[in-house]
Amino acid sequence: MTIWLNHTMKTVYWYNELAAERIYATRCSLPSLIAHRKSANRRYSCAATLFCPQVDRAVNVLQPEYLSVDLTVASNMDKVLKAFKNARVGSHHFSGSTGYGHTDAGGREALDAAFAEIVGAESAIVRSQFFSGTHAIACALYGVLRPGGELLAVAGKPYDTLEEVIGLRGTPGHGSLKEYGISYRELECWQLAKCGGIDWDALACAVKPETQCALLQRSCGYSWRNTLTIDEIERAQNIIKAQNPNCVVFVDNCYGEFVELKEPTAVGVDLMAGSLIKNPGGTIVPCGGYVAGKEALVKAAAARLAAPGLGIEVGSTSGEVMRLLFQGLFLSPQMVGEAIKGSLLVAEVMAGEGFKVQPHPRIKRYDIIQAVEMGTPELLVAFCRAVQKRCPVGSYIKPTAGATAGYGSKVIFADGTFIDGSTSELSCDGPLREPYVVFCQGGTHWTHWALVLGDVLEALKAL
Ligand SMILES: Cc1ncc(COP(=O)(O)O)c(C=O)c1O
Repeated sequence: MTIWLNHTMKTVYWYNELAAERIYATRCSLPSLIAHRKSANRRYSCAATLFCPQVDRAVNVLQPEYLSVDLTVASNMDKVLKAFKNARVGSHHFSGSTGYGHTDAGGREALDAAFAEIVGAESAIVRSQFFSGTHAIACALYGVLRPGGELLAVAGKPYDTLEEVIGLRGTPGHGSLKEYGISYRELECWQLAKCGGIDWDALACAVKPETQCALLQRSCGYSWRNTLTIDEIERAQNIIKAQNPNCVVFVDNCYGEFVELKEPTAVGVDLMAGSLIKNPGGTIVPCGGYVAGKEALVKAAAARLAAPGLGIEVGSTSGEVMRLLFQGLFLSPQMVGEAIKGSLLVAEVMAGEGFKVQPHPRIKRYDIIQAVEMGTPELLVAFCRAVQKRCPVGSYIKPTAGATAGYGSKVIFADGTFIDGSTSELSCDGPLREPYVVFCQGGTHWTHWALVLGDVLEALKAL
């Protein structure tokens, strides 16, 4: 293994020391600050790094961004802790339930209440029984939409797996929204080629009386566009409601949780949904999803998950999973912070190598996804294989692109994760279609990406 002898570690230690000094400077006298400096100088003494020079340089440059990410983590963690306190979360909530799940010692209720408070929603259901983000989103949409109504996608084409839900492709007879008489319309993303976002002019006159639901996908998904900011989501929501106050504004919140200081429901969005094997599962929740928003709409989504009449009071969850749902939510702000640091690093290093990246290096993040345009299938595959080799699980597996349930294109996944398909753990993937973009996300610590990127650069050089 190569050991690079240069200055990354010094930088990291300098960064830690600086943070410690700030605390000393605000709380202590000058003599104690000097004493601290002396002891700190004795303590920090490592100059070796495993990182390659390109990564090392990037880590150096990114220290101010990393500090700013940490401050967001602190704010979001504070919010989680307050919500857990208000919900009086205790170890009895981890006991879980069996059968119908009628006797769960209040765990479900406490989790839902804490989650709703964290995201600024009236109500929430957080359940292991949602198979995935797509399932939670579909439950929310089927809960809201009725025959004769229209679904309007506001920020361009929704994520690939929603195409079959909407009825844009898929097996006839499986009950897509289209088969239930719900029409679909889509507003193009403005200046898509220039990484635009919402077409505000088009949106200003797009909502019709029959538009029952406006769908905003917060994250870019598999498209080369800007992720929506919470400010943009709020602006869109106001424009939609001004045209039709009855139109439900729904946000696909996958990959957006805890990236900013607020969630869509905190700025008035009616309903949102996401996956627990992404951001809010904190890398440890084994399965599930959530729906949050106005109480009546959350109950309608719950009726799709369960059945009308059963609602949110049923559904058993084992004790082990119940604890993980709480613990994962607690860990989530930190893990999202690490994922963002990883994505900043990917952007910095890959842009330095001449690749097009989205978002651009050192740009403030609004989700945890970092896209890199590889340009050819060979480079895309080589990138994913190098990532897989540095994963903790299945490092010996050689990923290949293949058909995947819900996707129209072949997709290659590098996801040597503890939880199958978890994209809050370090992973990357990409559809095998032009312009061969790899989407990188997750990671429990940014240094994992720092190690991976060294291997990626070597693999690309070897082609
Ligand atoms: C923006 C967005 N929405 C929805 C989904 C679907 O989530 P899941 O794979 O959990 O069904 C994804 C998946 O990556 C996504 O990126």
